[in-house]
Amino acid sequence: MPYQDMREFMELLKQRGEFEVCSKEVDRKIEIAKVTDKATKSGGPAILFENVKGFDTPVITGLFGTLERNALVVESTKREAFRKMIKGREHPIDPVTVRTGPCKDVIMTGKDIDLNRVPALWHQVKDSGYFISATNVIAQDPDSRVRNNSIHRMEVLDRDKLGLWINALGNLRVIIRKHLERGQPCPIVVAVGADPAVLLCGSCKIPYDMDEIAFAGGVRGAPVEVVKCETVDLDVPATSELVIEGFVMPGDEDGYVGPGTYCDEAPFAEFTGYYGIRRRSPLMQVTAVTHRKNYIYHAMGTSVSPSEHQIMITLNKEADAYAYICLTVPEENIKGVNSPLGACGQGMVISIKKTHPGQAKQVIHSILAHGSLKRVTVVDEDIDVLNALDVEWATTFRARGEDYIITSEMAGQSLDPMVTPPNLITKVGIDATLPLGGDKKGRIEVLRDLGPCRYDDLDKVNLSDYIKI
Ligand SMILES: Cc1cc2nc3c(=O)[nH]c(=O)nc-3n(C[C@H](O)[C@H](O)[C@H](O)COP(=O)(O)O)c2cc1C
Repeated sequence: MPYQDMREFMELLKQRGEFEVCSKEVDRKIEIAKVTDKATKSGGPAILFENVKGFDTPVITGLFGTLERNALVVESTKREAFRKMIKGREHPIDPVTVRTGPCKDVIMTGKDIDLNRVPALWHQVKDSGYFISATNVIAQDPDSRVRNNSIHRMEVLDRDKLGLWINALGNLRVIIRKHLERGQPCPIVVAVGADPAVLLCGSCKIPYDMDEIAFAGGVRGAPVEVVKCETVDLDVPATSELVIEGFVMPGDEDGYVGPGTYCDEAPFAEFTGYYGIRRRSPLMQVTAVTHRKNYIYHAMGTSVSPSEHQIMITLNKEADAYAYICLTVPEENIKGVNSPLGACGQGMVISIKKTHPGQAKQVIHSILAHGSLKRVTVVDEDIDVLNALDVEWATTFRARGEDYIITSEMAGQSLDPMVTPPNLITKVGIDATLPLGGDKKGRIEVLRDLGPCRYDDLDKVNLSDYIKI
């Protein structure tokens, strides 16, 4: 059964002993984010900060603080969660519109709007201000009405103004541009604290013409309940804790989403572990804020890996990679997918049951052709993708220089400090699979017949039967 809302997920974490309440007074400037980071880096719990200096609203962090917790969001395990995510693509479930929902308990428009009353966090020392970090940013294509759902950290610039940054490959860019080029405002709604599965789905790279709220429904196995917004012609998950409605307005400045209204935003501590530079980004003019009566503000930690940010990216990138490989390899022959945390979602290890010569190289190309992922290693099914030592061994002894595929001038991740402006990167794939049907060089008879030298029943050997331990 999917979670109805964020609170149900918090309750589950409580039962599992992965949830703590902090009653000590804490500052939303740096302190909460720092404590969150400390907890994440030590595998600690989600934390409800109930005494935030100057605010009545409690702040929850760490909901995505471990890889296992991310998998739990989609009711799965670290090893299998990527498979769960494909269900949303294969069997999307349309949202259902309900008359009202908890997110409508309090409705503010006009002069009543004051985003400074939201306890958004200041994360790192060199950040430019307070950022709303755990957002489902929802917008619709003006022609097809297909919904896009993506996560964007947004800087609070004024009582009713947010800075919105969109990476070079982000589909939200396309939607805003379509509106602005027609001289129309682009409606946007930001949901904070929806069912965490909806948030997680927002970080996946879904084809532009697939409705991403239906995708989230498919992953949950049940439709997302949505309600109509107050001031924009959009729907928003009904159980959200906090909802911010508004527009990107047409304007004279011709920036990356077209002739619109822009602002200066950032620096911000990005997922790469570096600060993103200050830049001109689309401005969201806020027209309504609605929330639950005693809403809980959901925030996510961000700092050098592993922080909550990279932990969440890991699962969604694995899910995306899986979707791309399914085009090349039958699902039952994809044995493992792992994005090692240090690669911050930009590196991937895949294990497959290779069934024809050259297949590993096809896998490499199908992944590198999509999204921003810049390094992929393909290994055989006997290699455990979660075991770094296994992967290192296969990479060393099942690949030669020729098995490194290098592709230049690919579109990259704009925050990657290694991209060449405006946004190009050279990507690499390593075919570390065994030769099959003459597709690789090396001492084939050794590779094929004489390794790995493993005891299959090592786990049955009890050392204490032989020595004192
Ligand atoms: C915690 C978190 C924060 C993110 N912040 C941003 C952001 O500020 N801007 C951005 O372009 N992408 C951000 N992303 C990545 C996008 O959400 C992701 O690329 C998504 O797939 C974009 O979807 P779209 O191309 O369908 O719009 C973030 C991801 C996570 C997990």
